[in-house]
Amino acid sequence: MKGFASDNYAGIHPEVLAAVAEANDGTHARAYGADPWTARAEQLFRRHFGPQATSYVMFNGTGANVTAMRACCRPWEGVVCAETAHVNVDEGGAPERMGGLKLLTTPTTDGKLTPEHIARTAIRVGDEHAVQARVVTITQSTELGTLYTVPELRALAEAAHERGLVLHVDGARIANAAAALGLPFAAFTTEVGVDLVTFGATKNGALGAEAVVFLTPGLDEGFLYLRKQSMQLASKGRFLAAQLIALLDGDLWLRSAQTANAAAARLAAGVRGLPGVRVTQAVEANAVFAILPPGVAESVMEQYPFYVWDEHTGEVRWMCSWDTTPDEVDGFVAALTAAVTVAAGS
Ligand SMILES: Cc1ncc(COP(=O)(O)O)c(C=O)c1O
Repeated sequence: MKGFASDNYAGIHPEVLAAVAEANDGTHARAYGADPWTARAEQLFRRHFGPQATSYVMFNGTGANVTAMRACCRPWEGVVCAETAHVNVDEGGAPERMGGLKLLTTPTTDGKLTPEHIARTAIRVGDEHAVQARVVTITQSTELGTLYTVPELRALAEAAHERGLVLHVDGARIANAAAALGLPFAAFTTEVGVDLVTFGATKNGALGAEAVVFLTPGLDEGFLYLRKQSMQLASKGRFLAAQLIALLDGDLWLRSAQTANAAAARLAAGVRGLPGVRVTQAVEANAVFAILPPGVAESVMEQYPFYVWDEHTGEVRWMCSWDTTPDEVDGFVAALTAAVTVAAGS
């Protein structure tokens, strides 16, 4: 089965798997991240994000996001985010339940926050009855497949900082963003004032590994303890670090992301002219959102699984991954074209 449901439906990139096998070299290594692989991964994060970057390897994205936001907030503080943010709609209430974090949500049209959203949401400063905003979290690339530009990011960091807030990036798809922007990671994080990043590797071809990368010195105080308390400290840490090294040492992260982004662009181009099909979001990374004629989604889904994103409008989401091939995209477009033709004739 090959489909467009999620970039997590894809397997592990063979180069990542080989790196894990190589780390399993028959010798013992210190546990809990005190191993040479973790040290190397930390070095690579400094190479990609700048010399002040401190990184902590984590198991998964939800845990990394929640622990990162928790690190920044005192008990009365909260997190500004888009209504569509993964932290709000797809983390099962973990920020609230596990992190004790109130999310201060705001509606957007494209999944992107602006300084105006911050101004409207980070309010009642000094009012003891209101949760005090402390973190602004954005997703790059967003849950809707859109992308923040460098000037937009800089404006957000300024708007956050002038209110004493920190800017967190949920980078579950940060490699897709870097590939789409054609920029190194630091150019759209460290250099524009982002304070901390959840670095996603799993969708980029890892088996399962993420990291929280602090870019503002001092913000990670106590994070070692918080990570353990949040159940995100891996005992056999070398096997998580080996995955990050495989992606970040050379250009595997970029190749994987470019493949996924190119597949989404090809898919969008293939369906744009089809009668009754409307692509609803700018296609800027590895996702395509669309509204289809009635019955089309159901008839194609069996062969190529994907999700209905919005039950009310019928909007669907198609995700491309590091292993999506042009032939698979063309096959999917052909199936959609056939279904649209049948729908038009009925
Ligand atoms: C925007 C975003 N953030 C974070 C995550 C990480 O989630 P998980 O806990 O499944 O690794 C995902 C995965 O779907 C995501 O799409």
